Amino acid sequence: MDTFEPQIVAFCCKYCAYAAADLAGSMRLSYPPNVKIVQLPCTGRVDIFHLLKAIEDGADGVYVAGCLEWECHFLKGNFRARKKVEYVKKTLAELGIEPERVEMYNLSSAMGPRFAEIAREMTDRIKELGPSPVRTETVQTRCYMIIGDRKSLAEILDMIKDSRNILISGCKGCVTVCNVGGLKEVQVLASSLKIARKKEGKPITIEENLLERQCDPEYIAELSEIVHNYDAVISMACGVGPQFLSEAYPKQKFFPAIDTKFFGGATAHGVWEERCAGCGSCVIHQYDGLCPISRCSKSLMNGPCGGSASGLCEISKDVVCIWDMIVKKKMEQGRLDDLLAVAPAKDWSTSRDGGPRKSIREELTQ
Ligand code: FES
Repeated sequence: MDTFEPQIVAFCCKYCAYAAADLAGSMRLSYPPNVKIVQLPCTGRVDIFHLLKAIEDGADGVYVAGCLEWECHFLKGNFRARKKVEYVKKTLAELGIEPERVEMYNLSSAMGPRFAEIAREMTDRIKELGPSPVRTETVQTRCYMIIGDRKSLAEILDMIKDSRNILISGCKGCVTVCNVGGLKEVQVLASSLKIARKKEGKPITIEENLLERQCDPEYIAELSEIVHNYDAVISMACGVGPQFLSEAYPKQKFFPAIDTKFFGGATAHGVWEERCAGCGSCVIHQYDGLCPISRCSKSLMNGPCGGSASGLCEISKDVVCIWDMIVKKKMEQGRLDDLLAVAPAKDWSTSRDGGPRKSIREELTQ
């Protein structure tokens, strides 16, 4: 295993470990290239899921590097991170995987040499352990996809008609992946609005900004110093973003630039399709992984309606009849009889029809 080069993911707090990594760079300190850094506003934001997911997706080792104890800018983020690392260590042990593949470190922004030392220490440790039993050649990344479209310029111009100085804030999450709210789109919108307002003879000052995620209080806190410097803020996130911003900064006006549409994924370059209705009680195991709730125009759960023809839905020739796909799949597997059972009426109380929903993970609450 001499040629084994571990893939290690380091979740680093921007105030300490990430700054220490920068310092190590400017001090020309070398450390192994095996370590790939993910910057966080505070290690308190790292989730058990992120650590497990890194292992699942092929990392041989993972570590979290936060501020020194009692020096976390968010008070206890690094303590919470340590608890999560301990939880993941236990989970790995239960799975028969060496818990030493995951570690927690504390350091300050002035500890560039220590950052390099940790990277070497972790690389040596993982080399010693050998490849993860679930290693893949490259560490995968996946994204959750909330799909949206940008509102028309006319609509946005109308929202900001009384403003002369605005901020446009994008989001690096789903809307960046579906090309409506990332840096490029923020720049395009800013430029378009400036042209429109110049043409009207009412020039506008626009500043641009991109947040890691607008659905997370730690990230939107980054606007606290500047948010009141503007007449209004345009959010280029899904519908969650402007609401989180609005709640965090009640004295400021926020306008949405995106029409949020659905949960989906890319089916071709530049094409995204709906795959999930977020109903709160997934049933796709009954339909071989296909969802009639989100993909049948009538959300039928017991077979197609009379409008299905040649595999297409009656509402449009562009819409595949999901029931045609479900039936064909069952036939191919010789399991058509599965469909003889009548699916009971769906309990919609777990969907939005039951009122605004909340999800609580006790192990992550304080
Ligand atoms: Fe650095 Fe919390 S701010 S760990």
